[in-house]
Amino acid sequence: MNYWNGKTVLVTGASSGIGRALVQQLLQNGARVAACSRRLDAMQAALGPETEQLLLFAADVSVPDACEAFVAAAVAKFGGVDVLINNAGISMRALFAEVSFDVLRELMDINFWGTVYCSRFALPHIVSRKGVIAGISSIAGYRGLPARTGYSASKAAMQAFLESLRTELLPSGATAIWVSPGFTASNIRNVARDASGKSQGETPLKETQLMSAETCAGHILHAVERRTRNLVLTRQGKLTVWMNKLFPGLTDTLVYRHFLKEPDSPLKK
Ligand SMILES: NC(=O)c1ccc[n+]([C@@H]2O[C@H](COP(=O)([O-])OP(=O)(O)OC[C@H]3O[C@@H](n4cnc5c(N)ncnc54)[C@H](OP(=O)(O)O)[C@@H]3O)[C@@H](O)[C@H]2O)c1
Repeated sequence: MNYWNGKTVLVTGASSGIGRALVQQLLQNGARVAACSRRLDAMQAALGPETEQLLLFAADVSVPDACEAFVAAAVAKFGGVDVLINNAGISMRALFAEVSFDVLRELMDINFWGTVYCSRFALPHIVSRKGVIAGISSIAGYRGLPARTGYSASKAAMQAFLESLRTELLPSGATAIWVSPGFTASNIRNVARDASGKSQGETPLKETQLMSAETCAGHILHAVERRTRNLVLTRQGKLTVWMNKLFPGLTDTLVYRHFLKEPDSPLKK
């Protein structure tokens, strides 16, 4: 029996990248999906029109009322919630000495607070179905990355939040998990904020050589299905987390050198 068939799943950040791939695979597996992002037109272009199985909802997850309205619309259409995947997120590339506080705040507002708001509004529905709250974190949630101070802090906070929540939920039968992808092909680096808050406009990586968003989404859905407490993806990602645990000083140097080599690295200044 297919785990997803007939389940109601909420996915944030569905207009692009990993979120889009999650929605497509969930629909193929018979789930009913409520998808949100800030841009309804981009979601329609990425996923097609709304159907009986798919709700498209324009919501900025950094706004609590918008998260509440998203969950309410999903419950009104589908009658409940089994799984919430907190996927919406943005990144940055700028030195801490130069980055505006507004950029750091925006990262926390979307990546951390967006997860908190959506989780809170979906919680009673998920508990009543003994379901799953998932967060899409990052290797940066385990290992702070240079020129990504706000991003790393937002993902570490997300992980600590979900770990606490999972423990609180122990007697309920519901659970909270997170998945930390390594580098995955998507739009995230194109729209990553520079020091002043503008999108940097291009990616410093060869996106075609990275894990695909579809492969990443497959791993995420498998982790939710198996209630894997936390999953780290890609060989490089697993190695980084492991090295950081055993040799944190050496890992500081290796991580610095890695990001120094990026085209236009802010570390070269
Ligand atoms: N790609 C990677 O290498 C990588 C690695 C580790 C972790 N991740 C994590 O994976 C998640 C998905 O990222 P991605 O790589 O698929 O990036 P992406 O292609 O840029 O997609 C990000 C999605 O989030 C949505 N979003 C951004 N701000 C939002 C807001 N305030 N409210 C609602 N939706 C918002 C965007 O839609 P709108 O612009 O329409 O709102 C878009 O649909 C993120 O949490 C990211 O941190 C990615």
